[in-house]
Amino acid sequence: MCGIIGYSGKKDIANIIIEGLQSLEYRGYDSAGMALAGPYNLDIYKKSGKVSVLKEFYKKRVLEASSFTDKNSPEIGKNLSHNTGGDSSKKGISKNANNKLICSGIGHTRWATHGIASDINAHPHFSNSSNIAIVHNGIIENYNELKNFLLGEGYIFKSQTDTEIFVNFIEYNIRKIGDNEVDDIVFALKVALKKIKGQYAILLLFKNHPEILIGAKKNAPLVVGRTLVENKSNESMPEKGMFIKTKKGVQSQNYEYFVASDILPLAQYVNEVRFLNDNEIFLIKSNNIKIFSLDESVITDFKFYPIDIKKENISKNGYDSYMLKEIFEQPISIKKCIKDKIDNKSNLFCLKTLDPILQDIFSAERIIILSCGTSLNAAIYGKYIIEKYCNIPVSIEQASEFRYRNPLVRNKDLFIGISQSGETADTLKALEYVKENYNAKIISISNAKNSTITRLADVNLDICAGLEIGVASTKAFTNQLMTLIIFNFWLMQKTSTTGANLSVLPERISKVSDTIDIISFLNSFSSAISKVLANSDKIQKVALFISKFKSALFLGRDTLFPIALEGALKLKEISYIHAEGYSAAEMKHGPIALIDKNMPVITLIGNTKFLKKNLSSIEEISARNGKIITIGTVGNLEVKALSKYCIDIDFSDCFKPSMDGFITKASFTHNKEKQNSETYSSSFTEKFNENCTPGLGTIQDDFLIPITTTVVIQLLAYHTAIYKKCDVDKPRNLAKSVTVE
Ligand code: AGP
Repeated sequence: MCGIIGYSGKKDIANIIIEGLQSLEYRGYDSAGMALAGPYNLDIYKKSGKVSVLKEFYKKRVLEASSFTDKNSPEIGKNLSHNTGGDSSKKGISKNANNKLICSGIGHTRWATHGIASDINAHPHFSNSSNIAIVHNGIIENYNELKNFLLGEGYIFKSQTDTEIFVNFIEYNIRKIGDNEVDDIVFALKVALKKIKGQYAILLLFKNHPEILIGAKKNAPLVVGRTLVENKSNESMPEKGMFIKTKKGVQSQNYEYFVASDILPLAQYVNEVRFLNDNEIFLIKSNNIKIFSLDESVITDFKFYPIDIKKENISKNGYDSYMLKEIFEQPISIKKCIKDKIDNKSNLFCLKTLDPILQDIFSAERIIILSCGTSLNAAIYGKYIIEKYCNIPVSIEQASEFRYRNPLVRNKDLFIGISQSGETADTLKALEYVKENYNAKIISISNAKNSTITRLADVNLDICAGLEIGVASTKAFTNQLMTLIIFNFWLMQKTSTTGANLSVLPERISKVSDTIDIISFLNSFSSAISKVLANSDKIQKVALFISKFKSALFLGRDTLFPIALEGALKLKEISYIHAEGYSAAEMKHGPIALIDKNMPVITLIGNTKFLKKNLSSIEEISARNGKIITIGTVGNLEVKALSKYCIDIDFSDCFKPSMDGFITKASFTHNKEKQNSETYSSSFTEKFNENCTPGLGTIQDDFLIPITTTVVIQLLAYHTAIYKKCDVDKPRNLAKSVTVE
C-alpha cells in the first residue's frame, strides 16, 4: 500500500528520498514521486511505474537543468544543485559554515485508490498556488463535499485524487490565516484537519519555508525517526519552544529527522523512533521537533524508542528474492519464537507480556479472533488447537466484517487481534470498535513491536519472526501458528502450575514434567522444516506442472484446512493462478463441479489421521480426471497410485512418543463435557487408529504437521510463480500492509 518518506536536514535530499522510496517498494505501489524544497523553489517529480523510472526521470531533469544557464532556468538549476552533491557555489547559493542548508524532501509510492495509476495522479500534489506539496496515505471520505466547496472558492483540480483536494483545503485555510509564521501554518492545518473525515498520514512541504517539514496522522501509520548530528558551535539553535533533549541539563543535542510510513526505510538512517499517535501533528524545523495534538497545544512528554531492525536484515542475503530468503529463514524464526516464550530458569512456557490481564484471560468464556488474509488462516488454526486442547470456544471473525454486522459480544469474551504488520486497517478498525463498545480485553499477536495494533491492544504477544519484507507472508505465518500453539500450551500450563481458579478451563497439565517434555519436543522441531527445505528442488518439479494450469484446488481436513486456505492464497497472490482452498469434505458440496483434466487438486493429507477419508476424496477427484498432488506421509499405495505427484514429508520430528500420553491426558481425561456427551471408551490413540489404514505407523498428535506442510505449499507457490516469471516480492496490486479499509 502507499508508502511515505520524508527528510529534513543537510544531506543529499534527493538521494535519501529515492533510497527511501526503494525500501518502500515492498509495500506494493503503481507510481512514485518526490518533492524537494530548497532555497529557490519547491519542485515535484513524479512518474507512474517503478521507483527506477522516477530515478531516471529525476536524473534526466538534473542533467537538463545543469546544461541550462541560470537565465534559462533559474529556479530548477539552483534548486537541483542544492544538497544533491552538486557544486552549489556555481549556482550562487550562499553556504553556511557547514556548507549546506537545511532543506526538506518528501516522497511517496502510490497504490491507486481514487483515480488510475498515472503521472498526474501520482503524489506529491501541489496546491493551486504551488506553494504547498503533499504526500498522503489513506482515503478522505468527505472529498466530494470539500471539492464542491473549493470549486466554489475558485480552486481547480488536475488529478482525480482526493489528495489534491486535501492539499487545497489546507491551502484554503492557510490563506485565511497567513503563512508568515510557522505557527500560523500549524494553526491553519489544525483547523483544516478537524474538518477532514477519513484516514490520513500526510507530509507537507512549503515553498516559503523550505527548512520545515510538517506531518500529521489519523488512522494511518507515520513514524518519525531521529539520529544525533554533530553539535557544531555554529549549528542553528532551536527556536524558543522547540523540544530539545538535554544531557546533564547543559548541552543541547541536535537531531536529524526522517519520517516514513513504517520503520523499514528509516532503519539505515536512525536509531530511535516515535510512532505518531492519531490526531497529532509534528513540525520539524532546524534539527528539532515539536509535536502538537489536534485538540490541545504542544505535547512535551513524548519519547523516542530504540529501533531494533538491523541493517543486514534488509538485505536478500544472497537469495534471489526476499520471499525465498524468508521461507528459508523459518527454522531459525521458529526457534526464536519458541525461545522467546520459554523461561530459561524454570524451563516452562512464559508469556510475561500477558501478565497485566491474566485474570481476564482466565475468566474468559470465549475467545474471539479478528484478522485478515494469512493472519485469518492462522486464526482458524488457533481455533482448532485451542478448542481441542483448552476446551474453550473460539470464534474466528474476518476483521473487515466484524464491526459492520452488529456482532454479539458477551461479558467474558476475550479478543485476540492477529496482524503481522500491526497496521492492517480492517483489523485495527475492528479492534477499535471492540474497545469503544465493549469492556473486553484485547491481546494482539504481531510481528511489529510498537505498531498500531500493539498500542491499541491491552497486551501483545510478539511472534518474533523478524522483519518480513516479501509481500506474501511466509515466516510470519508459521510463527503465528507457533505462537498460537504456545499460547494454547501456556494456558494449559498456567492452570496447573498456578492453581488458577478458572471458570472455564479445567486443569490441563497435571505435571510440570509434561511441560518440560513438550518444550524439549518443540525445541527440536525446526529440523522438520529444514528437511522440507532440503527438498525444495523436488517441490520445484511439481511447481512446473502446476504452472501450466489456470486454476488449482487445495484440500485439507482439520488443522490442515487452514493450510489449504493458505496454500490457495499463496498461489494466487504470487503466481496469479486462480486457486481455492477447501475442507476436503466440502469439495463434494460444490467445487467438485470444477474438476476435470485441467484442474490440479493439491491434497494435504498430513499424517495418517484422516487417511481413509482423504482416500475417498482422492478417488472422487480421480474419477473426474482431476490431477492429484498429495502432500504428506504418502506411503500408502492407493494414494500413490491415484496421484500424479506425491510430495512425501518426513513427519518424524513432528511427533514424540511421550507426546501421545501428554495430549491424551489433556484432550480426553480432563474433557468432562465431551466425555459425558460421547462415550470415549478408547484412548485418544485408539480413536485415531479407527480412521487409519493399518501398517502406516502409530498415530500421535499432529499439531505441528500443519507448520511442516505450510513450508511445502510456500515452496510450491514460490516455484510456480518463478516459472511464470512473476515478481514474487512485489506481486501486482498487493500491498504488504493494507492500511486502508
Ligand atoms: C499475506 O500473504 C497477504 N499479503 C495478506 O493476506 C495479509 O496477510 C493480510 O493483508 C493481513 O496482513 P497483516 O497480517 O499484516 O494484518
